[in-house]
Amino acid sequence: MTEEQSSSEVSAEPDAPESPAIEPAKPHAVAVAAASSEPQPEPDMPLLRIEGVVKKFGNFRAVDGVSLDIRAGEFFALLGPSGCGKTTLLRMLAGFEIPDEGRILLNGRDIAPVLPHERPVNMMFQNYALFPHLSVRDNIAFGLKRAGMARADINTRVAEMVALVKLEGMEKRKPDQLSGGQRQRVALARSLARRPQVLLLDEPLAALDKKLRESTQHELMELQNRLGMTFIVVTHDQDEAMTMASRIGVMDAGRLEQVATPRDLYETPTSRWIAEFVGDVNLFEGQVGASEGGRLAVSTRDGGTVYVAEPRTPPARTAVSVAIRPEKVKLSRRAPVAEGSGGRAFNCLEGVITEVSYLGGLTTYKVKLDSGAVVRSSMANTTRIVDAYSVSQRVVVWFTPDDCLVLEQ
Ligand SMILES: Nc1ncnc2c1ncn2[C@@H]1O[C@H](COP(=O)(O)OP(=O)(O)OP(=O)(O)O)[C@@H](O)[C@H]1O
Ligand SMILES: [Mg+2]
Repeated sequence: MTEEQSSSEVSAEPDAPESPAIEPAKPHAVAVAAASSEPQPEPDMPLLRIEGVVKKFGNFRAVDGVSLDIRAGEFFALLGPSGCGKTTLLRMLAGFEIPDEGRILLNGRDIAPVLPHERPVNMMFQNYALFPHLSVRDNIAFGLKRAGMARADINTRVAEMVALVKLEGMEKRKPDQLSGGQRQRVALARSLARRPQVLLLDEPLAALDKKLRESTQHELMELQNRLGMTFIVVTHDQDEAMTMASRIGVMDAGRLEQVATPRDLYETPTSRWIAEFVGDVNLFEGQVGASEGGRLAVSTRDGGTVYVAEPRTPPARTAVSVAIRPEKVKLSRRAPVAEGSGGRAFNCLEGVITEVSYLGGLTTYKVKLDSGAVVRSSMANTTRIVDAYSVSQRVVVWFTPDDCLVLEQ
């Protein structure tokens, strides 16, 4: 076994026929200290402090100067495109990779010299390797046995974990008698079983179907809250990150681009890239013009003007993008009547609907404006009226300046 494989119950041998047989428990494999036995951080000290961490593979900087504080009990999500360095960052926290630069502090102590199995940190890997020759029950119990837990306590804990991931009745099955999603749930149960202080979860729910994923999300949140664990979850699913996490960090090309609450990330992204990566957005590129009555006029490339609420700090550059989320863009047959604010209470643009996508709870529309730009609008289907608007219909597209955001990069 490699150091990584022997370090914790979740870093088991891969689920492959040639996997070596499980060796008897070794003293050094008693991996993860229980949360209660760890020193508690000082009130203002984050549980985890990541300082300027860099990880290079050859000349390539997979993680490129990441700094981040994570508080005890936080549910933190890492979002970002494939290959941006999420797994590499988690692997450094778990101790499976050594940073080339920077420090990682846990409870105020640099954990560089602490071996993976001595860290109160556990990781559920993206490929969730299970022991192929052990039953569901024994896979979940594996780390508990190694840690010397009493048999009765193991039984209680395993039952709790089996119930959590809804695998009751399957305790005796081997991994090859489970579906991919069920195997992932065993891996999740196994990583949670020892209640580490920090649990790193790399795409933990990716193989679950939508309904099970949603219920497991809520159960994970409940469990995390109940046990006071700190979770750092990597996910590709933005809705999942928004639902579960108290804060989200968005990574791109090894860098942490923004760290914010789900609401702030969505409503006040700090860059055009973030605005486009998190959710859907309409962008109008243009030049900042005059400011009147709290409204900033932005002359768009297509010759129009979009009014935006004046930002607290004026844009440093005149070339900006105006961002507006599709659900904040309304359609109507006639322009809305604005009282008391002249023509600037709403941005009103005219065009023709080119696409209608009915999605159940909402319908999304693409509208080709007379200027040539395409704008997306999504509207909740709050009544059963069929096809409020249809393709080729002429509509007024309108949105308020307050719902627009000025982005400079
Ligand atoms: N051991 C390695 N040797 C060389 N390059 C590596 C190694 N591990 C990762 N990389 C590279 O580092 C980058 C970041 O990889 P990482 O696995 O952290 O991405 P990720 O954000 O987790 O992606 P995904 O969402 O696809 O899982 C990728 O370009 C990857 O090819
Ligand atoms: Mg990954």
